[in-house]
Amino acid sequence: PGKHVQDHGYRHVLPGEHVYDGVLFFGYSPPDVLDAVKEFKVRDDDVFVVSYPKAGTTWLQEILWLVMNDGDFDGATKTPVYFRSPFLEFKDLVLNEVGIDLAIAMRSPRVIKSHLPFRMMPKQSLYLLSLQFVVVFRNPKDVCVSYYNFYKASSSFGEFTGTWRDFLIMFLTGRVDHGSWFDFTLSWWERRTEPNVYIVFYEDLKKDLKGEIRKIADFVGKNDLSDELLEKIATHCSFSSMRKNPMTNHEDVYSINKQVSPFLRKGIAGDWKNQFSVSQNEDFDAVYKQKMGDVEIPFQYEV
Ligand code: A3P
Repeated sequence: PGKHVQDHGYRHVLPGEHVYDGVLFFGYSPPDVLDAVKEFKVRDDDVFVVSYPKAGTTWLQEILWLVMNDGDFDGATKTPVYFRSPFLEFKDLVLNEVGIDLAIAMRSPRVIKSHLPFRMMPKQSLYLLSLQFVVVFRNPKDVCVSYYNFYKASSSFGEFTGTWRDFLIMFLTGRVDHGSWFDFTLSWWERRTEPNVYIVFYEDLKKDLKGEIRKIADFVGKNDLSDELLEKIATHCSFSSMRKNPMTNHEDVYSINKQVSPFLRKGIAGDWKNQFSVSQNEDFDAVYKQKMGDVEIPFQYEV
């Protein structure tokens, strides 16, 4: 994909991998589930947390669940976040985590997670404008590093025996679960001026968590939350408290080997600098330019 980073032909095959509408998926998002997502019945007051994997999805799920439930901290201690906020296109029968079924059984307001590009969302979302999409963006170099560590730790991706360089090539060519970061990102960026789409940057959350939570709450119509409550939500959602919290740290998830890499790993902006070589960084920038063309998204690489 670049001048320096040569593809040496390493090929990682995901368990149950398949291509759907041009996007590579692992077996936990099988074709029948992706079909069912299109027919999924949405409700007026649904909030979708939409992101590319590793952009800060879980962070936003916890924030939005608390915002939508007026700071129900008691409820948040009883159930893991992935059961309170279902992952729409996910089906894990071991964990009994079947996103669509969880969502159907759930009372409103629902906070639903998805990693799909816009064209693959439930068809009804095309005309139901009361639906809200909170889309999380994170600088793609940090996303790539976080995803690499997650590939090593999670058995859902099968045994990953490649190197960092191999993973970088996989990422740049969209040969990872949920496909190309560029495809996903362009599909949502295009919709950024729609009144029901709100884009939040991971790096902004890092800089001013409470201020960003206030803006998110305003967007989803929760502009009556007190300053004190927002402060409490921000404290609850800091990296250190989410990492300690068994309802958010995913330490009980059978498929994640936390000895290799915990789900809440570093939680910082700019970790890419510890991973990319100078030439890998040049290649990344070249591919980025080629794929994104004139599209300028204000990603923050230095925080
Ligand atoms: P790192 O691997 O860089 O640490 P997702 O939920 O989309 O899978 O994203 C996981 C990434 O978000 C991980 O990044 C994780 O540490 C980070 N993250 C989760 N909760 C966070 C929080 N409260 N503050 C900062 N980063 C958080």
